[in-house]
Amino acid sequence: MSPERRSSFLAEHVDRLARTHLRDLLKDTARGKRLRHRAGPILLDLSRQKLDEAALEALGAHVEASGWQAARDAMFAGASINTSEQRAVLHTALRASGSQLASPAPREALEQIEQALQRIGALVQAVGQGDASPFGVAPGITDIVNIGIGGSDLGPRLAVRALAPFHVPGLRSHFLTNVDGQSAYELMHTLDPRRTLVIVVSKTFTTQETLLNGGVLRDWISRAYDGDAEAVARHFLAVSANVAAAESWGVPAAQVYPMWDFVGGRFSLWSAVGLSLALAIGMYNFRALLAGAAKVDDHFRSAPWQENLPVLLSLVELWNRNAQGRSSRAVVPYADLLTDLTSYLQQLEMESLGKQVTPQGQPITQSTSPVVWGSVGTNAQHAYFQALHQGTDVVPLEFIGVVRPAHDLQANHDALLSNLLAQAAALALGKTFDEALAEAKDGDESARRVLAAQRTFPGDRPSTVIMLDALTPESLGALIALYEHKVFMLGHLWGINAFDQWGVELGKSIARQILPALDGSLDDTASFDSATRALIEAIHERRTK
Ligand code: F6P
Repeated sequence: MSPERRSSFLAEHVDRLARTHLRDLLKDTARGKRLRHRAGPILLDLSRQKLDEAALEALGAHVEASGWQAARDAMFAGASINTSEQRAVLHTALRASGSQLASPAPREALEQIEQALQRIGALVQAVGQGDASPFGVAPGITDIVNIGIGGSDLGPRLAVRALAPFHVPGLRSHFLTNVDGQSAYELMHTLDPRRTLVIVVSKTFTTQETLLNGGVLRDWISRAYDGDAEAVARHFLAVSANVAAAESWGVPAAQVYPMWDFVGGRFSLWSAVGLSLALAIGMYNFRALLAGAAKVDDHFRSAPWQENLPVLLSLVELWNRNAQGRSSRAVVPYADLLTDLTSYLQQLEMESLGKQVTPQGQPITQSTSPVVWGSVGTNAQHAYFQALHQGTDVVPLEFIGVVRPAHDLQANHDALLSNLLAQAAALALGKTFDEALAEAKDGDESARRVLAAQRTFPGDRPSTVIMLDALTPESLGALIALYEHKVFMLGHLWGINAFDQWGVELGKSIARQILPALDGSLDDTASFDSATRALIEAIHERRTK
């Protein structure tokens, strides 16, 4: 990172802490207490971050001077903080029903949201009872396919998998997202079209991947009914802010569930976008998810920065990104049920925070979103942890663990958690050359020293541990809301609009131009750059072989 992209007000703290190993910082138990906090089912342990009290205070003074409470309150109240699209950002209103604090969101929005929840609840109940015909749905449904991409896929996908122990019997969930026809092909060879309910989720109802996949499944179901359009429609629901487009695509308006402009795709799990989840876990559990998120909303709205989990998480990211110059962060859940968390966070964080100008169009001087990556532990330990322990780059990690598993294989669970704790400890403490030398028993002095050098761990590598009491609808809601508010805080601190995503547009428009050159409707490729032209030619050349 170039020096000018670092936060200068933190420089003295970085310099001081460069001379202190995490091994020594961890000896201070009072410091540890200041860096460990709980909100409901979530324990956040930041004690393995390379921070001391003075650095934390400097970060606290920075956030306090930033006017974060006013910015936060403006979001909850429905101000148009997504300025490039002149939209409010009201995903918190979607779960306001579970809040202890009164919602300042516009009454009209709250009413629309409650009406939608009632509608979803009635549908979920009817499907559960086996007769959803009043909702336009065919009888005998056994499989639900959610078609969507980005925010119209990642949230429900994450939550449906994470909450597998809460699934209602008799319904299976599937997710079709990529435009690669392979997945649609496989689904069509697995499922019975007459027993499949397809939910087409697209806020805009213009997304290429979703509409293509929707069309493929519509043709498949249509074949099962000899083209009877009414019968086919009974296998489709839609979730969209663009009811007219959904209707003209073939979903009757009464079967379209709402999205609103005031909810961004990556923040939309709590809306009808979560319909496939509500069907999978039932409305009681879906409401519990909302309530879990609402508790974190209340916490975010009321706790001082020193105890405010989303604020603390954002300050640690600011510290690692802008003071320490770390360009990526690994997210490693020690829970197979949270397999999809990393990809969910990739969209939430990188689509929100991967920006380089202010809402006024001025270049921003600090680095923004780190690359978020990772996968479940312990598998990750056997893949890339070598580089995290002994590689030349320092990558901050986020470990996520669950205290009480949803199964009774306690020995497995103890092994899982012991690995999580061990990795966080090993990264922080490391192993000195002398410790490694003392362990090296074989060979002469010089061979022992050579081996010891390779078995030395620098340590001093930062990590965060997030522990959930158990993985439940409530704690999952809380966890996701924690990350949402962290993203909000970073957008605020970095001075960027976290709620638009113009950076996805250029590639989409070039793809639209290239498509005719591949499907044969455009012969003249002269307008493309030379590399694109050569690859188009290579594809054509090999297609027929
Ligand atoms: O291309 C990015 C994006 O616009 C995301 O922000 C969004 O979640 C996704 O595409 C899907 O959009 P839609 O719900 O409109 O199909």
